[in-house]
Amino acid sequence: MSLPNPLRDAAKAVRENAHAPYSNFKVGAAIRTSNDTVYVGCNVENVAYPEGTCAEAGAIAAMVAAGEKEIEAVYVIADSPSPVPPCGGCRQKLAEFGAGSVPVIMATVDGAETHTTIADLLPGAFGADHMERT
Ligand code: THU
Repeated sequence: MSLPNPLRDAAKAVRENAHAPYSNFKVGAAIRTSNDTVYVGCNVENVAYPEGTCAEAGAIAAMVAAGEKEIEAVYVIADSPSPVPPCGGCRQKLAEFGAGSVPVIMATVDGAETHTTIADLLPGAFGADHMERT
């Protein structure tokens, strides 16, 4: 028996609500914030393909809409052969609200997990400091 994991449970449950008729690839994401609250998101595809949004983007939008901006942990899950990594755009979105040390757990519905961090997902990240000139 594995340990209880509310972040995993939340990501797995919201994944069921994904709208993915084009890829048939449902993704769920859960974010825990500094307020110890969990926000969830799923991918929402569109017949105009580029208009689709990722699960991570949905969870981030829910967090910000609720007035929070500090990510402390991320969980992403899909029915994939190996744990599903956030896409490039979502790595940048996560970096906007989470420190480099924030854990990101990538998972499959079968129970495989890979643990990484925001910094490891986005080395050499573009940040506000790059726009500073002294
Ligand atoms: N997708 C996510 O929602 N998150 C990821 O981390 C990887 C990809 C979605 C986007 C699209 O709806 C489907 O997975 C296939 O790319």
